[in-house]
Amino acid sequence: MKAILLAGGKGTRLRPLTLHTPKPIVPIFDRPFLRYQIDLLRRVPEIDEIILSLNYQPGRIQEVFGDGSELGIQIRYVVEPTPLGTGGAIKFAAGEQHKETIVVFNGDVLTSVDLPALLALHRERKSKATITLTPVDNPTAYGLVETDADHNIKAFIEKPSADKITTNLINAGIYVLEPETFDRIPPETAWSIERAYFPSLIERGETFIAYEYRGYWIDIGTPEKYRQVHDDIMAGRFDAPPFLGHAGQPVVSPEAKVDPGAILQGPCFIDAGAVIKRGAKIGAGSVIGRACHIEEDAVVDGGILWPNTWVDREAVITGAIAGRHCHIGRNVTVGAGAMLGDKTVLSDFTTTR
Ligand code: GDD
Ligand code: MG
Repeated sequence: MKAILLAGGKGTRLRPLTLHTPKPIVPIFDRPFLRYQIDLLRRVPEIDEIILSLNYQPGRIQEVFGDGSELGIQIRYVVEPTPLGTGGAIKFAAGEQHKETIVVFNGDVLTSVDLPALLALHRERKSKATITLTPVDNPTAYGLVETDADHNIKAFIEKPSADKITTNLINAGIYVLEPETFDRIPPETAWSIERAYFPSLIERGETFIAYEYRGYWIDIGTPEKYRQVHDDIMAGRFDAPPFLGHAGQPVVSPEAKVDPGAILQGPCFIDAGAVIKRGAKIGAGSVIGRACHIEEDAVVDGGILWPNTWVDREAVITGAIAGRHCHIGRNVTVGAGAMLGDKTVLSDFTTTR
């Protein structure tokens, strides 16, 4: 069985981080985001190929995963000439001739969804399309899904206005689809699975059902959610490397150099090649990327630093996210909520809020 990962979005809400790093491969600790999804998919014995549906900066993503042999699963890439939207992308990636059941995943969700249970329900009900639902506090940023007592989907409303909210269950972006229903998706035309394909199943009275999942699920599309993923893994709310068995603690790569006079508060992560000097303090919730340098008496408190960033003496970074190769000068103060793009240089004594 093939699984399609929709990974062609621009990640605009994560700019400037996504200007040079497409959202599917933004680092979560020391691994590209999609790695977690690939790991989930390759544990399903029936899935023998993952197709990455790409559009934005495809080369960067292909370089990271190659043909998948290192991860033990076959990976293929389908690059759209122009963005085809979620529906058009699925049809294009599956290919016109494809007839077998496919699994589809939005490329920006992290979850421990039970895929075998989802597939079993889809087959038991002889469904044409089965979508995973998950509860959220505010459905307005998602696709709201109304069902009846037998889990048949009665309404699908993408990005509902506040007055349309009748449930907290939303589309988790994980589907099992029968390609025979792709007849209505026009070839090579931008077409939304949420706004056009799902409503069409309801209009035509086709078997369209929901699988409810109440375990871990998050969409990393915004800076707040991107940070939340790190916090959840560090706290053990989502069990995943590099914190498996180490929730709440400092996790330090054996190839990092941490001075005995540095202070580390758990949970935090320090990647290979990083150097933490004497008197530096790495507070709880911080991530120090590969080959970062934290100079004497600098403080990183809840900051996420991508690889190769340099933090000079007595600088204080609180809760900010910094891209690759930044230079944070002496005594700089970077406040919570700051997002620094790759190669940002803050000269000595600069203050941001
Ligand atoms: N190949 C390709 N081409 N992929 C695309 C395109 C495209 O034109 N447009 C979007 N994608 C990919 C994105 O990269 C992302 O992985 C996924 O499709 C969903 O797009 P988002 O832009 O992240 O959508 P969203 O988060 O606003 O809403 C979607 O996800 C929610 C759950 O996280 C919808 O499916 C909602 O209904 C859902 O609740
Ligand atoms: Mg999204």
